[in-house]
Amino acid sequence: MMTRKSLIVGNWKMNSSHLETIQMVQKLSYRLDVGDYSRVEVVICPPFTSLRSAQTVIETDHLSIRLGAQNVDWHDNGAFTGEIAPSMLSKLSVRYVIVGHSERRQIFGETDETVNRKLKAVLAAGMTPILCVGETEQERDADQAESRVASQIAEGLAGVSGDHLASTVIAYEPIWAIGTGKTASSDDAGSMCTLVRTTVESVGHAAGESVRVLYGGSVNPGNIAGLMAKRDIDGALVGGASLDPDSFASVVRFWV
Ligand code: 13P
Repeated sequence: MMTRKSLIVGNWKMNSSHLETIQMVQKLSYRLDVGDYSRVEVVICPPFTSLRSAQTVIETDHLSIRLGAQNVDWHDNGAFTGEIAPSMLSKLSVRYVIVGHSERRQIFGETDETVNRKLKAVLAAGMTPILCVGETEQERDADQAESRVASQIAEGLAGVSGDHLASTVIAYEPIWAIGTGKTASSDDAGSMCTLVRTTVESVGHAAGESVRVLYGGSVNPGNIAGLMAKRDIDGALVGGASLDPDSFASVVRFWV
């Protein structure tokens, strides 16, 4: 059976100035050691304005923490006021880019089609997309969670194939669990993450086994171990708990 390295990603959302970022990265690094990094790939996604500072600390101190961004535009450059191009991120040593977070879909009107464009632009720039999918509470109550998630995956990954598909990360984040303190039970999260993998298999055959699937939604040091015990959950996309270096380090060290 294929082994997939665990992946814990902190999505800081619109929090932390560049100065606070420097302190947070340093504090996190004091709490993690070589053994932790060998078991888990640790990624932080601070706001755009913090990326350069985070990169500098990571490179100067030779840290194994990896850098991700929370959003991107799909154009290479041009008259797109306020947007950030993929190459601008890759030049800052950004390796991961979150695409299609539910906050971007719900508040900023992103659609499966724009998410798909972003995902392909991230891959073309040599970075790894973290495609976010997940149902609303109403969809869950109407028994539409599975079909909603399957269609977000099929449309988000449209036109992506082979190695690109295999290296993509997919985060299942039920919208009702984000920032609410309501986590999906580990059984529910596990079976939705299995659905994610089988859906990828249906669009890309072998890729399903290598794609890493994350769970997101009120992940904290108290619930991470139960989630990570599920066969199809390879890691977590962590919001609130990633803002405190102590709690994020405890999530990373989920087996302790
Ligand atoms: P919380 O962990 O704060 O629920 O946020 C989850 C999330 O949206 C991560 O992308």
